Formats: sequence, structure tokens, C-alpha cells
Amino acid sequence: MTDKSSVLLELSNVAKVFTTSGIFDKSELRAVDTISLKIEDSKPKITALAGESGSGKTTLGKLILGLLSPTEGEIFYRSKSLYDLNSSEKKQYRQDVQAIFQDPFSVYNPFYKVDHLFEAPIKKFKITKNKDEARQLIEDSIETVGLRVSETLGRYPHQLSGGQRQRIMVARALMVKPKIIVADEPVSMVDASLRATILEALRTIHEKENISMIYITHDLNTAYQIAEDIKIMYHGEVVEEGGVDDVINNPKHPYTQLLINCIPKPNPKEKWIEKKKLQELISNLDKPIIE
Ligand SMILES: Nc1ncnc2c1ncn2[C@@H]1O[C@H](COP(=O)(O)OP(=O)(O)OP(=O)(O)O)[C@@H](O)[C@H]1O
Ligand SMILES: [Mg+2]
Repeated sequence: MTDKSSVLLELSNVAKVFTTSGIFDKSELRAVDTISLKIEDSKPKITALAGESGSGKTTLGKLILGLLSPTEGEIFYRSKSLYDLNSSEKKQYRQDVQAIFQDPFSVYNPFYKVDHLFEAPIKKFKITKNKDEARQLIEDSIETVGLRVSETLGRYPHQLSGGQRQRIMVARALMVKPKIIVADEPVSMVDASLRATILEALRTIHEKENISMIYITHDLNTAYQIAEDIKIMYHGEVVEEGGVDDVINNPKHPYTQLLINCIPKPNPKEKWIEKKKLQELISNLDKPIIE
């Protein structure tokens, strides 16, 4: 049984329904469809959240981050509903749960220099006592992700490469000393060599700082490299979950099997799944789980 006090964040039967209205009608989409999960303080883990485009991964990540509120169910932070947190608890929650997004460029104001990205959370969460301490912390965080201070501070986001911006996001999230990082496709926009560096940095941070991570991806290869656990999402639901080795080597749900079949094989004689076959498999997905 789980000790309730060690549960940092809990989602209990959470659903997010988006309502969109066209000219003549209104339609509802259950982007996240009744998901429960727990992130424990005493057992920090990297959990991958995988699934095809539109399966609800980002929506679930935003619910965890408190950027969206659930339509159904409830989210608890240290056993208290998010709705009941007082202002200091809310601040603690905001500090404890940090985000790394796919394209950090789109998240930040292009008129602020990179320095501002680091200074704002230091001020908001009162992380350091004085300016010198703040500068030291910023420089240390930048160097942890393999960037040079002289090549990053004093610049605007557009003056950095995509990979540098991505690492700035990692450095910033790390600097805040969070308990949980939600990393939404953090390496999808960088090349293969940098991908390995960023994943390595995330893993090191997880191990050294005991940070739990939700690693969102549609790429099972990187999920396999970085995560211990995996949840497979399909149409807003978690259709399969467990240890990453078990799920990838012995997938039970047809959708997971399908995703695994789509991973490019190193053997050139072994063909990728054909498009027609893929569509056939997709149309069979609503059939029961093969045990
Ligand atoms: N604000 C919104 N209003 C209406 N529908 C939305 C909104 N945000 C997301 N959706 C829809 O919810 C579904 C899930 O979207 P979500 O962004 O969570 O998918 P995803 O798994 O992250 O996909 P991707 O891999 O492409 O990033 C999609 O069908 C999307 O169109
Ligand atoms: Mg997404």
C-alpha cells in the first residue's frame, strides 16, 4: 500500500473535455479520458507518456502542471485538492512542478533576454539571498547542461540555436529545484547527437536531484532510453502501463504492438510496416486486449 504522505501529486479519475463550436453545431472531445496516476516523493521515477499525435499527452501534461483544470475528477498536491491550496501552497506547487516544452521559443517573450528567463523564477520563488548568489546559480545551471555562459547570457532567444534554447529550458527548470519535471517532447526538435546529450542531462538531473519526470514523447526509442515506467495513451486513455522493458518487449494492447511495429528496425532487410497494414491495424484497435 502507498503511504499517503509520500504521494506528491495525484490525479484521481481526471478527464478533460474540450468543447468546440462550429457554425451549426457544438462538439465535445474527451482529450483526456478518466486517468488516475500518482507521483511519489519517496520514489522519484522517470515515466514516459507515449502515444500518437492527438492522443492527449500534452493535455495530460498541462493538467499535471496546473495549466489546465480538469472537467471531471480531481488533482491533489500533497494530498490537498488544487482548488483548496492557499496562496503559499499554490506557490510551492508552481515551484515544485516545472515544465520543459517542445519549442521553448514559442513560450517566451522574444523581447526579453535569456537572463530574464532565469531571473524571473529566482525573484518569484525567492531562491537566492542576493544578486551574487543569483548570478552564481544561473551560471552553474547553464554549465550543467553543457552550455557556455558567455554564449547564452546577454542574448535574445532568437540569437540562440534550437538546441541551445532547449537546453536553456532544461537549465531553467533545474535551477528552480523542482520535485517534478514535465518534459513535453524535449528533444524532438534537435539532432540525434544533441538528443543524446539532453536526454543524458535529464537522466543525470533525475538521479542527482531526485526529481520525478514525466517524459512525453511519440518516440518509443527515446522513451526506452530514458524511462523506467511507461504509459501508453490512445484516444485520451492510458491503454497500457508498466515497466518500460516489460511493455516494450511484451506489449499486451494492440495499439502498443502497433506503435512498437512502427519503430524503425536497424536491419535493412526488415521492412517498415506498410501503410495499408497500418490502417488495417488501426481499424482493429477497438477490439479487446490480446492476452
Ligand atoms: N485547447 C484546445 N481546444 C480544443 N481541442 C484541443 C485543445 N487542446 C488540445 N485539443 C485536442 O485534444 C486532443 C489531444 O491533444 P494533445 O495536444 O493533448 O495531443 P498530443 O498527444 O500531445 O499530440 P502531439 O503528439 O501532436 O503533441 C487533440 O485532438 C487536440 O486537437
Ligand atoms: Mg503534444
